[in-house]
Amino acid sequence: MVDMRNDRAIAGPAILFLCLGNICRSPLAEGAARAAFARAGIDATLDSAGTGDWHIGHAPDARAQAEARRRGVDISALRGRQLRRADFYDFDLILAADASNLRDARAIRPTDATAELKLMLDLLPERGGQGVTDPYYGEDDGFAETWDDVDAVAAALVAEFSPSSG
Ligand code: 4NP
Repeated sequence: MVDMRNDRAIAGPAILFLCLGNICRSPLAEGAARAAFARAGIDATLDSAGTGDWHIGHAPDARAQAEARRRGVDISALRGRQLRRADFYDFDLILAADASNLRDARAIRPTDATAELKLMLDLLPERGGQGVTDPYYGEDDGFAETWDDVDAVAAALVAEFSPSSG
């Protein structure tokens, strides 16, 4: 998709990853997607946000940063922000980590929103309807599972938006 913003042509899809705090699942998803789109040579606008406001301006959770680094991706420069109404027009696709995030997003979704809104795991045929488990309150190995989930979502997005896939 190509559209014009601020007199600049922006090529490629604009995708927002959404979770609760914007310090664990959605920054990992953004990091995995940034790496996957870069590897594929596809331009994309990628961002993440939380439905909650507790971590505005905060770097990702140290355990999330460590897991991303272990997978070769540096997410340390990302900063938390809260989902806003403009996101429903600025992005083509908003991907929520779980059903609760999806419900909260639907509650503030403007009626004329242009962004499609669905679950991250809806991108994976065998995982549709499922949520990405929140690793925040769990053990460190939960972050490896989160990475595996969001990395699979990133691969599905790259496949969907590859020029050859039509
Ligand atoms: P996230 O995890 O939604 O994957 O970023 C959470 C991070 C922080 C909180 C909850 C979930 N919190 O309550 O502060």
